[in-house]
Amino acid sequence: MRGTETADPFGRGSVRRRQLLIDTDPGVDDAIALLVAAASPEVELLAVTTVFGNVPVQQTTENALRILALAGADDIPVAAGAQRPLVHPQPHRAARVHGANGLGGVELPLAVRSAEATPAVRFLAELLHGSSLPVTVCSIGPLTNIALLLGTDPGAAARIERLVVMGGEYGSGDVEPAAEFNVWSDPEAAQRVLRSGLPITVVGLDVTRATAMNAAAIARIGASGPVGSAAAEMLAHHLDHYMRVQGGRGVVIHDALAVLEAVIPGVLGTVARKVTVDCGHGPGRGRTWVDRRTGPAPGLQDDAQSAGGAVPRQGVPVQVAETVDLPRALTEIEARLRSYGAR
Ligand code: BDR
Ligand code: CA
Repeated sequence: MRGTETADPFGRGSVRRRQLLIDTDPGVDDAIALLVAAASPEVELLAVTTVFGNVPVQQTTENALRILALAGADDIPVAAGAQRPLVHPQPHRAARVHGANGLGGVELPLAVRSAEATPAVRFLAELLHGSSLPVTVCSIGPLTNIALLLGTDPGAAARIERLVVMGGEYGSGDVEPAAEFNVWSDPEAAQRVLRSGLPITVVGLDVTRATAMNAAAIARIGASGPVGSAAAEMLAHHLDHYMRVQGGRGVVIHDALAVLEAVIPGVLGTVARKVTVDCGHGPGRGRTWVDRRTGPAPGLQDDAQSAGGAVPRQGVPVQVAETVDLPRALTEIEARLRSYGAR
């Protein structure tokens, strides 16, 4: 959606659009997230940048182009980014979960255009420098592009008004017992981003796991029109995986929840916490440690007393999503996916 103001098809009058950039590795839930963003009157989706992750970056880029074409959003530029993590290449991809093509085996029609000639990190930097309005960035894949932006053009990164990240786990992991896929895919990048001091909201597995779309919702989306039908086909592949492998209640659409928070700030309840990423090479690699303690750090009590107050803990706090209004989140996501049928 282009332009800064629009009438709201969800009946909330005229809305000022937030500028949004999405960095992604589609991925079924990324595809759903992109469809949600492109149908959201609250945002102007400025561009999509891609990164390796669920499948290699050539495929995630092709998928992003095809998803935007499906959404009728062929005017939104797509720029291809990192093909590997910052430091340690990882052999594992998520094809077992997302299918070999990343979209659950669903063959979306070919896009008529190609990605931008400018690589993603430079593209992001140019957009951020050039924007006269505040920009939200939503990262729903490994954080490599964002870490590279911080390293190569910190001035551009500093222009990010808000960075919403789908990443981390604050209970138990998915790809490993202790690690979530996006952070585990490039822990060094995640650490660099989470320590950057940018205004970050992290949306981890604790809240995303609750966001399960059941078979009835998928059927309603599928019946809404051609876009809904393609979305439902991708979700159905995922439903099979979640029921068989994870014994779940429906498809967990991690990335769509993060994008919803970027589109409607406050849909998630967050608390300021310090988060550290395990960048070691043991079984904890990629784990996100969240500090839920309050007050002065143990062991620093004497210093605190002699300093006459609390000693600040190390690190920069980020907003950690801890609660989700589930009925609202699921209703909003479903409504946006079904809204294509009414166009
Ligand atoms: C994250 O991992 C990917 O497989 C999903 O697309 C999501 O971004 C969830 O852990
Ligand atoms: Ca993703």
